[in-house]
Amino acid sequence: MDTAAARAEKAVKIFGTGDAAVRALDGIDVEFAREAFTAVMGPSGSGKSTLLHCMAGLDSLTSGRVFIGDVDLTTLGEKKLTLLRREKVGFIFQAYNLVPTLTAAENVTLPLDIAGQKPDPEWIDKILDSTGLRDRLKHRPSELSGGQQQRVAAARALASRPEIIFADEPTGNLDSRASAELLEFMRRSVHEFGRTVVMVTHDAVAAGYADHAVFLGDGCVVDEMVGPTADKVLDRMKSLGSD
Ligand SMILES: Nc1ncnc2c1ncn2[C@@H]1O[C@H](COP(=O)(O)OP(=O)(O)OP(=O)(O)O)[C@@H](O)[C@H]1O
Ligand SMILES: [Mg+2]
Repeated sequence: MDTAAARAEKAVKIFGTGDAAVRALDGIDVEFAREAFTAVMGPSGSGKSTLLHCMAGLDSLTSGRVFIGDVDLTTLGEKKLTLLRREKVGFIFQAYNLVPTLTAAENVTLPLDIAGQKPDPEWIDKILDSTGLRDRLKHRPSELSGGQQQRVAAARALASRPEIIFADEPTGNLDSRASAELLEFMRRSVHEFGRTVVMVTHDAVAAGYADHAVFLGDGCVVDEMVGPTADKVLDRMKSLGSD
């Protein structure tokens, strides 16, 4: 059987200590299928961002394991973890986090430049093409709309050809048209470019673009859905009593 692109096993994350302790992840088991687009949903505070940060190696677990492919992140030292993050993982944040003094094109290749890696021109060309931003690449972020900036951020996350891209509410600041363009881009990253995308969203319409949906509640998986549609997701959210 093909290994999952990423998985968590009995993952626990506790923030704080004593009376102030919060169990953000409560022994969660979850798998993200390779070359699939998965939406992660659930009420505010259910542990979605924490799960993404821990799976991407941006934060560490209190106990349990997380894997990218067959590599157990919890066994890696800081140096190896940095390398793995750089080579195998992309991350898209709700706030685009672009560098204001660089052009769109420079922002896309920035992580490679920092890592001292040569961009693969064919690959970069392909992802820049599919952002639909060819004519805006010499512009700075302040000269782009929110939706355009987020597509630059998504292209940046893809620049190193990561195996998996985690996105935390990437459409949270976008209107419905800009969201649709970004989601279409992410879907293409999976179905045309063979990447794996895991996206946190509160939006049933956004989840409808995904191949799978995973629902969290109190730091655990409470439900999963194959082939989500906006209507099915809304129904499920109602029955789970989430937002
Ligand atoms: N750095 C932190 N210190 C203390 N508690 C934290 C920290 N980060 C998250 N938490 C707590 O962990 C729980 C899960 O938070 P998390 O951010 O993962 O939720 P979420 O599902 O992403 O919510 P939202 O939909 O609002 O973004 C919450 O109770 C939150 O208050
Ligand atoms: Mg969050």
